[in-house]
Amino acid sequence: MTTPLIGIDIGGTGIKGGVVDLASGALLGKPLCVATPRPATTGPVAEAVALIADKLSASSELAANSPIGVTFPGIIKQGIVLSAANMDKSWLNQNISALLTNRLGRAVEVVNDADAAGLAETHYGAGAGVSGSVLMITLGTGIGSAFVVDGQLVPNSELGHLEIDGFKAEARASAVARERHGLSWDKYSSLLQRYFLHLEHLLSPELFIVGGGISQRARDYLPKLQLRTPIVPALLLNDAGIVGAAFNVNQQKGRTGVSDHHL
Ligand code: BGC
Repeated sequence: MTTPLIGIDIGGTGIKGGVVDLASGALLGKPLCVATPRPATTGPVAEAVALIADKLSASSELAANSPIGVTFPGIIKQGIVLSAANMDKSWLNQNISALLTNRLGRAVEVVNDADAAGLAETHYGAGAGVSGSVLMITLGTGIGSAFVVDGQLVPNSELGHLEIDGFKAEARASAVARERHGLSWDKYSSLLQRYFLHLEHLLSPELFIVGGGISQRARDYLPKLQLRTPIVPALLLNDAGIVGAAFNVNQQKGRTGVSDHHL
């Protein structure tokens, strides 16, 4: 039996965490959430992550030194933050894995937020059992992407930053851009049509999964899209980041064969 692990999802507005049953991908108990500190600089965000980790550890039977999975909305390479489009720029070039490992006193593995959601959806959600390539797109403050091939993540695809018609895709087609520009569902669907058609031409995946809070309104825009590729809403909704973070740290733990403090 796989031991449950803690996943924590750092977002621009909230930081949330939960204990994840890795056999089913379900949360054990209620997730905890705190508002992202403002400004969202490294110290206060690390404190918020530590608060959630401590509370979850205290309320569960997990070993106090079990590793923790964390997500961050930017490019993460070998633990280092290489972009922070919608986050405080003080994160740039910081080794977030080392910073959190030091603050929490236990091993921490950090993964891009959309990559975590994609791992969760392809293992436990809308993409479970699909062979070949699955492209998950999260529509939120920005646009995140996860490219998963036969269950293996190709990390940091960052397809929300594709330039389409002279604009970054996320500047016009994120959920926040829709609200900011007061777009009708028809207008928004036409922007998504353009975006997904472009993605389809580039990558020809077997399946598109649409995530982010707006996936709950999928019936307002998904039926309007005309694509060769099936496109479905995410199933894990708000928990996908937490579940994917825990899944990822468990996977890394298995790869390195080292547990607890040193991943
Ligand atoms: C960031 C991505 C992130 C996405 C969703 C984008 O602006 O560049 O790394 O996954 O927003 O949060």
